[in-house]
Amino acid sequence: MVMLRSVVRGVGSHLPERVMANAELARLVDTSDEWIVQRTGIRERHIAAEGETTSDLALKAAEAALAAAGLAAGDIDLIVLATSTPDRTFPATATAVQMRLGITHGVAFDLQAVCSGFVFAVATADKFLRSGSHRRALVIGAETFSRILDWTDRTTCVLFGDGAGAMVLEAVEQADDAVPRGVLTTHLRSDGRHTPKLYVDGGPSLTGTVGHLRMEGREVFKHAVGMITDVITDAYAATGTTSADLDWFVPHQANRRIIDASADKLKIPADKVVITVDRHGNTSAASIPLALDVAVRDGRIRPGHLVMLEAMGGGFTWGSALVRW
Ligand code: COA
Repeated sequence: MVMLRSVVRGVGSHLPERVMANAELARLVDTSDEWIVQRTGIRERHIAAEGETTSDLALKAAEAALAAAGLAAGDIDLIVLATSTPDRTFPATATAVQMRLGITHGVAFDLQAVCSGFVFAVATADKFLRSGSHRRALVIGAETFSRILDWTDRTTCVLFGDGAGAMVLEAVEQADDAVPRGVLTTHLRSDGRHTPKLYVDGGPSLTGTVGHLRMEGREVFKHAVGMITDVITDAYAATGTTSADLDWFVPHQANRRIIDASADKLKIPADKVVITVDRHGNTSAASIPLALDVAVRDGRIRPGHLVMLEAMGGGFTWGSALVRW
C-alpha cells in the first residue's frame, strides 16, 4: 500500500532591513533593555519600512523557499498564507503573492489564527495535499505587526516585530511500511472565551478601523504553557513518539520564558530548542518559519530529523505539527 504525505521541499524567510534594538524603544516608552531582556528574552526586532507591506515580505520569503526547494513558481498549485496583518481587508494577501509570483492556476487564500497561524496553515495545506486535490503548496506566515501596535503602550509594543517565512510542501507517495516522512500529525485547538486576553480593538465590521493590539500579558502567560504542552502530548500520542525522539523543538517565538517553561515541562533539553525571539521578537504567524529557516540554513535541521512545531495565540488558538524533515 502507498499513501500520500506532505513532504518539506524547502524553506525561506525574509526580514525587513530596519532593526530596532531595545535601546530605541526605551526612548519611545518608559522601559529598559534590562526589563525587556529579563521578562521576554527579546533584544531586537525588525520593523517594516514605510510602504513595505506584508505581501512584500511574503513574496521574498516565498521566492527563497522556492529556490531552496529547486522549484519554479509555476510548480505551486496551492498557497496558504497565515496573517493577522493583511495588506488589505480584501482580497487575500495570498492572492497578491500568487499574482506577483506569476501564478494563474490553482488556489491561494489567507488563514487567520494569529500567532498559531503557521501551524494552522501547515495543517490545512497537509489536508489538501493528502487528499490528492493539490500537488505542491507554499505555506507562508507573514506579518507587519508594527502597523497594529500602540507605540505608546509599553506593555505590548516591546514584544512584537515584522517578518515572513515560507515552506514548500509536496505530496509524495510513500509505502506504508517505510519510515514516514513529512507532516506526520497536526493538532489544532481554539477557545473564543479567551478573546479579551489578547485581541485587536478595531476591525472593518466593528469599528471601521484597523485598531491596536491589546493584551493582558500575565493572563496569556498563565495559559500558554498548559495549552502548548497539551497539543504536543496529543502529537506524541498520535505517533507513538516522546520528547526523547525529537531532534528539534521549534516553538512559536513569543517569549523566552514561555519557551523555556514549555521545554522544561516536556523534558526537551535546551540544546534541542531553536530560539530566534532574541533577534526577531514575536513575529506572530511568521515566527516559526523564520526560526525553521535559520535552523535549516545553519545546518541544525537536516533530512530525517524529527521536528516539533508548536504555537499559541489570540483566540485563543493553539496547535502542534510533528514533521519528519
Ligand atoms: N517596561 C517596563 N516595565 C513594564 C513594561 C515594560 N515594557 N511592561 C510592563 N511593565 C511593568 C508593568 O506596568 C508592571 O508594573 P507595576 O507592577 O508597577 O504595575 C510590571 O512591569 C509587571 O507587569 P506584569 O505584566 O506583571 O509583568 P510580567 O512579568 O507578567 O511580564 C509580559 C509581562 C508581557 C512580558 C509577560 O506577561 C508575558 O510575556 N506574557 C505573555 C505575552 C505573550 O507572549 N503574548 C503573545 C502570545 S502569542
